[in-house]
Amino acid sequence: MPDLVRITDVSPRDGLQNEPGIIPTPDKVRLIELLCHTGVDEIEVTSFVSPKWVPQLGDGRDVVRFVSQLPLPEGGGRGKGDPTPARNPLTVARAQALRRTMTGPEKALWAELSGKRLAGLKFRRQHPFGPYILDVFCPSVRLVIEIDGITHEHVEAKRHDAERTAYLESFGLRVLRVSNDAVLHDPDLIARQVLHAIAADRTSPFPLPPPSGRGSARPIFSALVPNERGMQSALDANQASRRHVIEKVSVFTAASETFSQKNTNASIAETIERFRPVIDSAHMQGLTVRGYVSCVIACPFEGPIDPSKVAEVSKALTDIGVDELDLGDTIGAGSRESTGAMLRAVDRVAPITGGRVPITLHLHDTFGRAADCVRAALDLGVRSFDGSVAGLGGCPYASKRLPDGTIQRAPGNISTELLVQTIHDAGYRTNVNLDKLREAAAFAREIVAKSRAAASTSSSGGTPA
Ligand code: HMG
Ligand code: MG
Repeated sequence: MPDLVRITDVSPRDGLQNEPGIIPTPDKVRLIELLCHTGVDEIEVTSFVSPKWVPQLGDGRDVVRFVSQLPLPEGGGRGKGDPTPARNPLTVARAQALRRTMTGPEKALWAELSGKRLAGLKFRRQHPFGPYILDVFCPSVRLVIEIDGITHEHVEAKRHDAERTAYLESFGLRVLRVSNDAVLHDPDLIARQVLHAIAADRTSPFPLPPPSGRGSARPIFSALVPNERGMQSALDANQASRRHVIEKVSVFTAASETFSQKNTNASIAETIERFRPVIDSAHMQGLTVRGYVSCVIACPFEGPIDPSKVAEVSKALTDIGVDELDLGDTIGAGSRESTGAMLRAVDRVAPITGGRVPITLHLHDTFGRAADCVRAALDLGVRSFDGSVAGLGGCPYASKRLPDGTIQRAPGNISTELLVQTIHDAGYRTNVNLDKLREAAAFAREIVAKSRAAASTSSSGGTPA
């Protein structure tokens, strides 16, 4: 069977951030809803950057809240989960009684988990599950926390624990065992262990590829964050929605110093330093991290970029722990040859095939060569690409003023329609339904046209450099 290629649609973020007007939040949410039914694997739904820099996406929190309320297809991010056993009335009654009489470690653990509202997760205490009662259960991440007292040291008790664990695991649950002592004397440690257990389950930035049911799975939602402040906003948005709506955050730097300054007011090295706490905090909360490198072929200000510089920045990102590298041809300067040379350089520091960190290619399509670049990347083993429906998009800080005073705007992304068609024509599979994708693209064109007409008399969006 041909290889499956992963598709991320970035239109709600990259597509709308460069529009002269601000697209109304309900239109953004409707676009995301339509994209959810196309079968794309991931949608970059918004960014949590400074609204002074990109006012077009200043409504990230609302977007996340509304998206969390959409009736979406099952699956995707965390998977549909295995069935649960039928409820046993006796166990249910026993669990109710236990809940009323909780003491000691059980009470302490519960106070710790419910008091901290860890990662916005909802926990259940003394939860009946088949023949067992679980000390603490977190259904959204399918994690069971069991308190093991001194009696668990006994051989017979150990056998019983092992049976119980095997039973729970057969339903796709993970079991974290914590000791009585730890719960009573270091509850904070328990909280950290819980977060680690969740993060450990999210070692892949591409968790659970959707089934090949074409358009049947919910995609992963991701959001761009430039710094700790943005990371906190993403977590707050999840918390306000009472679940992990955003499962991945994207940090971004560049292979060009000038672009990095213009886009983030920081040198490349400074952005890398900013990302360390962002990555730690994402991993602690069970989120994965995509690391963008912009200007991998050329910079609007510095011209062509040496592939070795792209490799150097890619290595810096992998060294600080990103889970995915996303290589951005920000101004669509790439050709088959230059894209190949850049990818081969990156391959030496972050292997494209079989490496720890998967590589995604993010193309803008200025000269109509993006499809060629996709083919070159497929030949070199890249199996993950970004596109934007209707080819919308561009970084506002890649726009520049020409000598005659006019503004040259950053070019749009490769359209997801062209991207998917190119991949299929090259003999690979995606989970995307092209008809549904065209529907989403038509809606994107409609909302952008409406917004452009309204904005034509007012001032433009991003600050051109
Ligand atoms: P700065 O001005 O240096 O930030 O901007 P600061 O730390 O000095 O803070 C200044 C003010 O911003 C403070 O507020 C902060 O609280 C606030 P004040 O005290 O003045 O009221 N602030 C924030 N507010 C909300 N959310 C935040 C945040 N951070 C600070 N996260 C900063 C530095 C990085 C924030 C700024 O440069 C920025 O937001 N840049 C983002 C630009 C952007 O979004 N560009 C487009 C995305 S990148 C792209 O499109 C390329 C890509 O598609 C790949 C490719 O194509 O190559 C990914
Ligand atoms: Mg881009």
